[in-house]
Amino acid sequence: MLENTVRQAATTDAEEVRSIVEGLSRPEKMISPKYFYDETGSKLFDEITKLPEYYPTQTELGIMRSCVGEIAALAGEQASLIEFGSGSSLKTHVLLQNLRSLAAYVPVDISEEHLLASAEALRGDYPHIEIIPVVADFTKPFELPTPAIMPVKNIVYFPGSTIGNFEHEDSRALLEVMYGEAGANGALLIGVDLQKDTAILERAYNDSAGVTAAFNRNMLTHLNREFGSDFNVEAYRHDALYNVDKGRIELRLVAESAQTVRLGDASIEIDAGEGILTEYSHKYTLEGFAELAASAGFTVERVWTDEDKLFSVQYLVRD
Ligand code: SAH
Ligand code: AVI
Repeated sequence: MLENTVRQAATTDAEEVRSIVEGLSRPEKMISPKYFYDETGSKLFDEITKLPEYYPTQTELGIMRSCVGEIAALAGEQASLIEFGSGSSLKTHVLLQNLRSLAAYVPVDISEEHLLASAEALRGDYPHIEIIPVVADFTKPFELPTPAIMPVKNIVYFPGSTIGNFEHEDSRALLEVMYGEAGANGALLIGVDLQKDTAILERAYNDSAGVTAAFNRNMLTHLNREFGSDFNVEAYRHDALYNVDKGRIELRLVAESAQTVRLGDASIEIDAGEGILTEYSHKYTLEGFAELAASAGFTVERVWTDEDKLFSVQYLVRD
């Protein structure tokens, strides 16, 4: 086991099952997108980031490479970098190579095996930086570790537009947690996907190789393995549409025939053609995101975008 790892107190399977059953009992059935990320799901997400249709990752990486000098100047010396939903920490390399004398890097993720493997690889690449992975569901309370070197400030990093996977109230609550973690003189560096043409968006979530479909369906395989449910995974079709009014991609798994699913003590009826909502991916205007940030106490200090204004990287400070 990787040394110097922090783990959140585990929720019991019974509590998790209860909350999944609650989601599947709503008028529109839903399952939280956090269940995408078992080991296979994290690998499938990495494959998504390499797809030609999935513009966010390469666009954000390009922005990071061109603005990292300015980010380093804003971050100053001896900051602690705390990343929410770090995954493979792909874009973080740009920061680890350019921020001056970092006190520590703290990647936080729910996908344990993937997080620990990524952290171990990073320790090989950056032996001079203390790397302390935290296995946690960041929507629930968790403790951050104290690095050996006292940080001058905390920079919370939340790339990938993962903020868009939360509904308005939940995203505000999460930003408030980050506000607390940033501390008085800290900041939040966040990747925010922007509104654009429906065709570009729907292509990004309906790739021709079918990787996003496999990622979506893997959620049911994950639940079957982890909680003993009996979803007939192959009987669900991937569906991803852009809801223009709400400014969000909506991912669903649509049952091709009627299903009865057992989960814990519950028996859930799913009609033929009925969809289970598995993810929202909100797309923002710069003004809309500034309003959301302000509702959590943040001011947008800098915004960087690519030439086509597909994606933004934003540096937020506390009011
Ligand atoms: N930051 C990376 C990965 C984005 S994918 C990038 O920009 O490419 C979203 C990541 O958030 C995954 O690694 C997933 O495991 C993690 N994640 C999703 N929901 C989470 C939750 N509730 N708590 C902790 N991590 C979560
Ligand atoms: C992690 N998150 C920001 C991705 C997104 O684009 O909303 C997850 C994803 N779902 C389908 N493709 C990628």
